[in-house]
Amino acid sequence: YDQRGSELFEEICELPEYYLTRTENAILETHARDIIACAPARCIAELGAGYSKKTIHLLTEQLSQRGSSIFAPIDVSAAGLRASRDAVSAAFPAVTFHGLHARYQDGFSAIDKDLPTLFVFLGSTIGNFNHTDFPRFFRALSAAMGPNDYLLLGADRVKSVKILEDAYNDSRGVTAEFILNVFGNINRLLGSNFERGKMRYHSWFNPEWRQIEMYAVANESHEVRFPRVPTAFQWQKDEKILVEISRKFDPIRLQEQLRFFDLGAVEHFTDPRDWFSVLLLKKE
Ligand code: AVJ
Repeated sequence: YDQRGSELFEEICELPEYYLTRTENAILETHARDIIACAPARCIAELGAGYSKKTIHLLTEQLSQRGSSIFAPIDVSAAGLRASRDAVSAAFPAVTFHGLHARYQDGFSAIDKDLPTLFVFLGSTIGNFNHTDFPRFFRALSAAMGPNDYLLLGADRVKSVKILEDAYNDSRGVTAEFILNVFGNINRLLGSNFERGKMRYHSWFNPEWRQIEMYAVANESHEVRFPRVPTAFQWQKDEKILVEISRKFDPIRLQEQLRFFDLGAVEHFTDPRDWFSVLLLKKE
């Protein structure tokens, strides 16, 4: 994302149709005490932390049950880490802050294996991983985990198609803006000439793959050029470019899949509507 992308995502999280953030936050708020009681860790390492808003509930419990804690957010955004450090050190003076400015693959291997750590990966970010990314991520994470480490994982669940599709096709068009905004960033990075005015947004829930697919579609046939390579292609009218996927999970199947990476289910937390799951797993 560029800066505009981060702002648009913040806006998405506030949309009435986008239930994910609100639902996960409510689960964490309700169950923070149980989560922390089940995972006796001295360090909380949050992957892709952003502003660490939802982690506040966990840190509050960690301090009341253990008295102190290390907090190690891992994020590619230095600005996000700075904001997180300022907020955490103001609210929790007893927390030792170790921000890691890295992609999570590189960040989690930097954490001491002998330090009992609760890894936290929220927001259903795993939904963005395709069938290659998913095993690669969990293999690397599991290898970086020590014998006393836990993983707290947020995953959005399969549910009614209407609810899912509305969450990614909001009435105010913020999601469309968010998805099409990436082409401006691609132009800046690659010197290409994608034109916002010549494309539209389309998304749907693919039931076979259990994923929301988010596309840019050409309104008219036109040439897109990449002068630095150099190459070009004809983007045909109504031809779709897949920009993002958001996979939806069955928590039981997800737990079974994570067993292949030596991650055993400890607890399953959900909301009253069964819309979102927060899984607590242990390295085995
Ligand atoms: C940040 C990956 C959880 O898939 O719901 C939201 C990203 N994209 N609307 C999601 C997103 C369009 C979001 N995740």
